[in-house]
Amino acid sequence: MKFVRLCIFCLIGLSLASVSRQNDPVPLDYFCMRTGHSIVKKGDAIYAYGGLRNPKVFNETYPYDHALVKLDLSYSWRILYNDQPMTLVSSLDLADHPPPRLIESSIFYDHNHTFHVYGGGLATSNASSVRQTTTSPVQNRVWTLSSNESWSSSPVKELDPNYAPMHALSVRAPEHDLVFYLNGILSNGSDEHLHVFPKMIIMNTRTKEVRVVSTNEILPDTARVGAVLQYLPLLGTRGALVLFGGATRHKENVTTDTWGTMVPLDVIHIFDIASLDTTPNGIWYRQSTSGRTPSNRMITCAISILSPDRTNYYIYISSGHSPTEIHDDVWVLSLPQFHWTQVFSGSRSNYGSVCHLVGNKQLLVLGGIDRHAACQRSPYVSLFDVTNLKWERSYVKDDEAFRVPKAVSDWIGGSAMGEAKIREPEPGFMSPGLAMMFDGITGSRMRSTAMRKVRITRWAAVGVLPWFSAFFLL
Ligand SMILES: *[C@@H]1O[C@H](CO)[C@@H](O)[C@H](O)[C@H]1NC(C)=O
Ligand SMILES: *[C@@H]1O[C@H](CO)[C@@H](O)[C@H](O)[C@H]1NC(C)=O
Ligand SMILES: *[C@@H]1O[C@H](CO)[C@@H](O)[C@H](O)[C@H]1NC(C)=O
Ligand SMILES: *[C@@H]1O[C@H](CO)[C@@H](O)[C@H](O)[C@H]1NC(C)=O
Ligand SMILES: *[C@@H]1O[C@H](CO)[C@@H](O)[C@H](O)[C@H]1NC(C)=O
Ligand SMILES: *[C@@H]1O[C@H](CO)[C@@H](O)[C@H](O)[C@H]1NC(C)=O
Repeated sequence: MKFVRLCIFCLIGLSLASVSRQNDPVPLDYFCMRTGHSIVKKGDAIYAYGGLRNPKVFNETYPYDHALVKLDLSYSWRILYNDQPMTLVSSLDLADHPPPRLIESSIFYDHNHTFHVYGGGLATSNASSVRQTTTSPVQNRVWTLSSNESWSSSPVKELDPNYAPMHALSVRAPEHDLVFYLNGILSNGSDEHLHVFPKMIIMNTRTKEVRVVSTNEILPDTARVGAVLQYLPLLGTRGALVLFGGATRHKENVTTDTWGTMVPLDVIHIFDIASLDTTPNGIWYRQSTSGRTPSNRMITCAISILSPDRTNYYIYISSGHSPTEIHDDVWVLSLPQFHWTQVFSGSRSNYGSVCHLVGNKQLLVLGGIDRHAACQRSPYVSLFDVTNLKWERSYVKDDEAFRVPKAVSDWIGGSAMGEAKIREPEPGFMSPGLAMMFDGITGSRMRSTAMRKVRITRWAAVGVLPWFSAFFLL
C-alpha cells in the first residue's frame, strides 16, 4: 500500500514539475475579494484560474489574472504565517492564454494531466451587493495549457453559437472523463440579444466528444444560473448530478431581468448519468426536502462528502446571496433523507467564494466578497472543519477521518459513522426511479468495488445519440 502511494506521488510530482517552470510565489491576497474564479483539485494541490479580483477596483490591472495559481496541499500550513503555499504555474506573458477577467469559467484536466479552461464570460462591469457583475461572451474555445507551459486554444465544433454560454454551471465526473455544463445565457456579442440556453453540454475529456442534451423537461425555456451543481459518484450505476438553488432566467425577459427568479432550496433535481446511454436527453428526478430550508441564494459554494460507512452523502453549502440578502452560514443536505440541517451561522456575510474538500474533513473556502474584512487582515482563505463545525486557519494534511457531526446525524437517526436509520425522504421518494438511484449507497459495501470497474459506454457505440462531435479539432 505504501509503495503504491509513493509511486502515485512520484508521478504527480514529475508531471507537475514539468508544468511549473515558473514557480513564482503568489501574494497572499490573491484570493482577496476574488469572485468568479474556478478551481480544480489535482493530486496534492488546488489549481485556480480566472475570476475578478476585487470588483470594487475593477479598473485595477492584476498581473496574475491569466495564469494558473497552485495552492499546495502536500504539507500542512497556516495561511497567515510564513508558509507560502501558493505559486504560479503558467507564465504571465504567453500568447493565446484565456482572456483576462474571465469569470465563471471552468478548469479541468484530462487523463494525461493536461489542464483545460472552457466557458464563462468576460466581466464588463463591477459587482456590488445590489448589482451583478455583467459579462460579455467569450469565444467557444477550449484553452489548453501544454506541459511546456504554453497555452493553445481550439474551437468547440458544431455547437450553435460562436460564443460559449455565459453563467453556465459546470461540474466534473472524473471517473468517467466527463465535464457537464448546465444551461447558461447565449449572446452574439450584443447586450440586447441574449437567449437562454436550455441545454446541457457534456464533454468527454478522453475521447474529445461533445454531446448536447436538452434540459427542457425540467427547465423549460429557462436557464438555471448561480445554482449548486454537484457530482455524487455512488448514486445510480454511474453517478448523479445534484442541482438546487440559484435563480431561473426566463426566455421572455432574460435581457431585462438580470437576477432572474430565485429558486427555493426545498426542491432538489437529480440527474442520472447512466440514463444518457438509453435516453436522448437523460433523466432528471425531482425531490422535495425536509427540515428548515436555507434562504434563497445564488453563488453558494458547495462540497459533498460520503459517510465513513459509505451509506450517506452530505452536501455542505456556505454563504451566497440573493437580491435582498447576503448570508454567512453553513448548511448540510443529507441524502437519501433530503434533509436540511443548519450547522453554522455567523455575521460576516459573503458570497462568490469557491470551495473544495481538502485533507480528510476540511471545507476550503477561497475568495469571495465580504464587505467587512480588509485584504491586509484576511487572506480570504479559510477552512471549516466539517466534523467539528468550526472555522480554522490551518490546513491539516493528515487530519483525523471525517465523522458525521452530531447535529446532522441526530436528525437522520444515524451515528458518527453514518448508519442512518432513516433511509428515505420524510414524505417518501417522489419517484421509484429516484429511490433506485440510492440502492448503490444502501448496499455500498458490496457494490463499491464493482462500481469502480464500470466504465461509461462510448456514446459512439450506443448509436441512438447523434449529437456528439469532435472538439480540439482545428
Ligand atoms: C480606468 O479608470 C480611469 C480613471 O477613472 C479611466 O480613465 C480609464 O479609462 C479606465 N480604464 C479602463 C480600462 O476602464
Ligand atoms: C494525451 O492524450 C491524447 C489522447 O489520448 C494524446 O493524443 C496525447 O498525445 C496525450 N498527450 C500526452 C502529453 O501524453
Ligand atoms: C462600481 O460600482 C460602484 C457601486 O455600484 C459604482 O459607484 C462605481 O462607479 C462602479 N465602478 C465602475 C468602474 O464601474
Ligand atoms: C508547446 O507544446 C505545444 C503542443 O504540444 C506546441 O504546439 C508548442 O509549439 C510548444 N511550444 C514551445 C515553446 O515549445
Ligand atoms: C446580434 O443579433 C442581432 C439580431 O440578429 C443583430 O441585430 C446584431 O447586430 C447582432 N450583434 C452582433 C454583435 O453580432
Ligand atoms: C420575467 O419573466 C418571468 C416568467 O414570465 C416572470 O416570472 C418574472 O417575474 C419576470 N421578471 C420580471 C422582472 O418581470
